[in-house]
Amino acid sequence: GLRKKEVNILCLGLDNSGKTTIINQLKPSNTQGQDIVPTIGFNIEKFKSSSLSFTVFDMSGQTRYRNLWEHYYKESHAIIFVIDSNDKLRMVVAKEELNILLNHEDICCKKVPVLFFANKMDLRDAMSTVKVSQMLCLENIKDKPWHICASNAIKGEGLQEGLEWLQEQLG
Ligand code: GTP
Ligand code: MG
Repeated sequence: GLRKKEVNILCLGLDNSGKTTIINQLKPSNTQGQDIVPTIGFNIEKFKSSSLSFTVFDMSGQTRYRNLWEHYYKESHAIIFVIDSNDKLRMVVAKEELNILLNHEDICCKKVPVLFFANKMDLRDAMSTVKVSQMLCLENIKDKPWHICASNAIKGEGLQEGLEWLQEQLG
């Protein structure tokens, strides 16, 4: 049959933003994990969509592991950047990490698509995608395609919309 195009996706964002929960939801239900624990270092996950074969590097967002992220920039075809929409205090930290990423020599010159999940939209005080975009100054990203989706990773809401956008970019 037809071979699916293989793509490497790097999943980044602060600790506790919901990266592993999102990636777990995107996997086929028979391979989904039951309890999600904070990631140590990183995990590699694989799953397929109708046209693509995804290899996802699900990185730990903890401060002590963030220096691992850059080792995977070169081989990534797209980035998923997850934000906890409820974590107003650390939005500036998320913005700092995003800027370091976008200015990195292995990323700044590449037109890699960046998909943002404004996650935890189910929480009462969650910020809207508009507010999150403003706080992260996403309109300043001129040289890469980007897209932001609100998501609830626990219920899986908003994830397909994001994945479809990624497929269009990578297809
Ligand atoms: P690190 O691996 O430490 O970088 O964290 P992570 O970004 O992988 O976060 P993880 O997926 O482990 O989720 C952290 C916590 O947030 C867990 O308790 C999840 O159940 C919870 N969580 C994830 N997504 C959502 C969501 O959409 N809504 C709510 N309410 N909780 C969520
Ligand atoms: Mg994790």
